[in-house]
Amino acid sequence: NKNAFIFDLDGVIVDTAKFHYLAWKQLANELGFEFTEDQNEQLKGVSRVKSLEILLKIGNVSLDQDRKERLMFEKNERYLSYVANLDESEILPGIKNLLLFLKDKNIPIALGSASKNAIPILKSLALFDFFDTIVDGNDVSNAKPDPEVFLLAAKQLNIEPKYCFVVEDSLAGIQAANSVHMVSIGIGEKENLPGANHIFNSTQDLTVDFVETILN
Ligand code: G6P
Ligand code: MG
Repeated sequence: NKNAFIFDLDGVIVDTAKFHYLAWKQLANELGFEFTEDQNEQLKGVSRVKSLEILLKIGNVSLDQDRKERLMFEKNERYLSYVANLDESEILPGIKNLLLFLKDKNIPIALGSASKNAIPILKSLALFDFFDTIVDGNDVSNAKPDPEVFLLAAKQLNIEPKYCFVVEDSLAGIQAANSVHMVSIGIGEKENLPGANHIFNSTQDLTVDFVETILN
């Protein structure tokens, strides 16, 4: 098969984007500033380290390295407590069906996520076995919008980048895919994801029918 699908995790496969947001928001509040959902768009798809940098910039706070490490640790602990009881009911609508369809068509499936928590999350959703390869925040050194994560996934699947479809809810991820001529499929609001080759408000609008059409 010449095509492949690369899925982002948070906000595409599972509704964990809200938990990342909640954990960052609490951290911001503890540091004494507000952090809105609109501002959170800048953190989507972005690594933990980079997210903290952006957050501190928003709050106009500067901290030493030790304190930053500690805050990232605390943020992650909080995030992990939110996702501790994750199960299949948190899989976003239509995603499982889409994975089943791709498997049935023998189309390789990759994960391309910035998260270092990707594997345990996929396992708790019982989706781990769908993936032919998993590239996550433990495997790459350059955060989205750098395309490293997607290029590595394509390479591991032995599929040319231009034949890869990338499903993403973040601007950084759409930019990463576009920069190496992958076909970007955005999940979210149009104004948040300019440049996406295709865009859907929700995962349930990314139907098997649509995927069949773009594969032909
Ligand atoms: C994803 C999410 C981000 C998150 C990043 C790192 O890209 O969209 O919100 O900050 O992964 O996740 P981690 O689980 O390693 O903190
Ligand atoms: Mg995401």
